[in-house]
Amino acid sequence: MCANIANIENLLTIDNNINDEKPIALVLFASPRKSGFTYKLTQHYLDTIKDRYNIKFLDCYNMKLSPCISCDYCKKEVGCYINDDFKEIKYFLEKASLLIIATPVYNMSFPAPLKTVIDRTQMYFNARFSHNIRPSIKTHRKCTLISVCGSKDENSFDIIIKQLKKVFTVMNTTLDKCILLYNTDNLCTENIIKDAVIKNL
Ligand SMILES: Cc1cc2nc3c(=O)[nH]c(=O)nc-3n(C[C@H](O)[C@H](O)[C@H](O)COP(=O)(O)O)c2cc1C
Repeated sequence: MCANIANIENLLTIDNNINDEKPIALVLFASPRKSGFTYKLTQHYLDTIKDRYNIKFLDCYNMKLSPCISCDYCKKEVGCYINDDFKEIKYFLEKASLLIIATPVYNMSFPAPLKTVIDRTQMYFNARFSHNIRPSIKTHRKCTLISVCGSKDENSFDIIIKQLKKVFTVMNTTLDKCILLYNTDNLCTENIIKDAVIKNL
C-alpha cells in the first residue's frame, strides 16, 4: 500500500540541523490532490533517490505564501520584505543541491501557489541586477521537474519549462531532467510510471 503524503513528509523531512553528509533535495510539491498523478510520480521518484539525499518536502498548498507585490524592497535591500513561509523555501533552496518541482499543468502554467513561489524569486533577479551579487545563490543545484497534464497536447509543458528556465538564470539552477505524464484525463493513477516520459536536458 502507498504511504500517504503526510507519511512521506514525516519519513523524509529533515530538521534545520543537518548533521549528515548527504546532500539536500528540496521538493516543492504543488498539487492540491494528495492522491493524484503528481503525487504518484513524486512518490516513485523520491523512492529512487531517498538513499542518496536528505529530502525536504514542502507542500505549497499548505504554506502561507503571499504574492509578490512589486514593492521594490528587493531592489533597495537584499531579500524580501514579505514575512511568510517563503522564508522556509528560501532557506532550503539555498542549501539544496537538487530541487524537485512537482506540479500539474493548470491553464498551461503553474497552479497559483507555485506561481507565487516563482514570482517571489524576483528577489534573486534583483540580487543579481540591482546588487550585482553573482551568482545570487552561492551554490549550484540541478532541478528535476515532475509534471502532469490532462491532455495529449504535446505543447502542454512548454510554458512551465520556459518559465523555469527563465527564473533559473538568476538562481544558479539548471533544469536537468523532466519527468512528464500526459493524458491524465484518460488514465487512472495505478501503473502510470511506465507512461511517464523522461527527458534529460
Ligand atoms: C484549474 C485546472 C486547469 C487545468 N489546465 C490544464 C491545461 O491547461 N492543460 C492540460 O492538459 N490539463 C489541464 N488540467 C488538468 C490537470 O493537469 C490534470 O487533471 C492533472 O492530472 C492534475 O494533476 P493531479 O492529478 O496531480 O491533481 C487542469 C486542471 C485544473 C484543475
